[in-house]
Amino acid sequence: MSSNQLDKKTQAWSALFSEPMSELVQRYTASVFFDKRLAAADIEGSLAHAEMLAAQGIISGDDYAAIQRGMSAISAEIESGAFEWKLALEDVHLNIEARLTQLVGDAGKRLHTGRSRNDQVATDIRLWLRSEIDLITGLLRELQGALVDVAEKNVDVILPGFTHLQVAQPVSFAHHLLAYVEMFARDEQRMGDVRRRVNQLPLGSAALAGTTYPLDRERVAKTLGMEGVCQNSLDAVSDRDFAIEFAAAASLVMVHISRLSEELILWMSQNFGFIRIADRFTTGSSIMPQKKNPDVPELARGKTGRVVGHLMGLITLMKGQPLAYNKDNQEDKEPLFDTVDTLRDTLRIFVEMIGGQINPATGAKEGGITVNAPAMEAAAQKGYATATDLADYLVKKGLPFRDAHETVAHAVKAAQSHHCDLSELPLRVLQEFHPAIEKDVFEPLSLRGSLNARSTLGGTAPAQVQAQIARHRARLAA
Ligand code: ARG
Repeated sequence: MSSNQLDKKTQAWSALFSEPMSELVQRYTASVFFDKRLAAADIEGSLAHAEMLAAQGIISGDDYAAIQRGMSAISAEIESGAFEWKLALEDVHLNIEARLTQLVGDAGKRLHTGRSRNDQVATDIRLWLRSEIDLITGLLRELQGALVDVAEKNVDVILPGFTHLQVAQPVSFAHHLLAYVEMFARDEQRMGDVRRRVNQLPLGSAALAGTTYPLDRERVAKTLGMEGVCQNSLDAVSDRDFAIEFAAAASLVMVHISRLSEELILWMSQNFGFIRIADRFTTGSSIMPQKKNPDVPELARGKTGRVVGHLMGLITLMKGQPLAYNKDNQEDKEPLFDTVDTLRDTLRIFVEMIGGQINPATGAKEGGITVNAPAMEAAAQKGYATATDLADYLVKKGLPFRDAHETVAHAVKAAQSHHCDLSELPLRVLQEFHPAIEKDVFEPLSLRGSLNARSTLGGTAPAQVQAQIARHRARLAA
């Protein structure tokens, strides 16, 4: 199609068409108002393609130079906002190509040699997604760093660990936060895995079957920093599994963020009072003057549904498509873009909400979460969090675990009726439950004794937690 044919697409695609598209159909089929976001990737891909066409003698060096010149003018126009995006030109690819031809004439018309929008768009999305994955990976590392910072200050702070949201055993607050560091570390790895499969070159597959020109696809891959070349042209132009994988990895990040949000919300509620977050992440109520609502964590929990929804949308988009490219695939972009935007904003906010931000005047980090250690510890004192420790104590004195478990259940029942903790029962009362109990029982019955005793690899004992902090620090510094 020549540039003025491109411009006249409202009338018809080519001589073959007897009538123009209606305005409604044009709006329905166009993607330019969202896929213009791929412009930089589109230009990068086109330049790599043109460079190879010239190196292979398919276009002249002069044509390549003209394409380069035109593309840098177009980049500048797009950046300054002067570029005129036209709905009639359907998508980002045709808009840029038409403008190129306007600027440099026939050289612009030669750019599309040995290429189709099908391999072009698949390449653009991959290039764009690759750089977004890199930003997201950086943010995941920052978030881990922020959590490790807070953890380091709270190794000796004890809160109740829950199962079924019932007090279970005392844990270090640092240990609790490091659980999320593990989750985000796996998310970071997953993004790395997805990146490897995203970073493969479709270009050179043309519409679906390859092309008759002597292209050097390896050369284009190298120019674009891609790890390899897609090895089947039909697959290369049609599958969006890389985008689905990304959406799945993004959904898991959001699920982890959502779990953390749920805990922040609970911990901030008056009934827990474990932490505070900076006022700028909360809002007041229009009717209840005393309120400070945890809007940011709540929204993050809510936006998780939206990202998981995009995963469902993308995976469903793929399922009925025969080989090779189908226009259905144009629907991959909005969910993918929104997934990236939501994830990036969420991670940025969480980095700051958890870790605070540097005050330029003092160089110190300020405004992260504030920990109320006495409230956490007081909560851990309720609910017989050290009952397992008493059972373990009896096992060390020779009782089979099941018998020890039963003995302690009786002791807990007695403590409950006295409205006190196990550690507050006098030694002689404890001895009524088992004569092997001696005064050294009060160490395991204390929160700190319980914590210190859980020194298995991965356990909550402060020495273990310190070792984990050191491991994370080394990993995050690398
Ligand atoms: N806008 C299209 C998309 O996003 C570009 C590829 C169009 N190819 C085609 N043969 N109509 O998928």
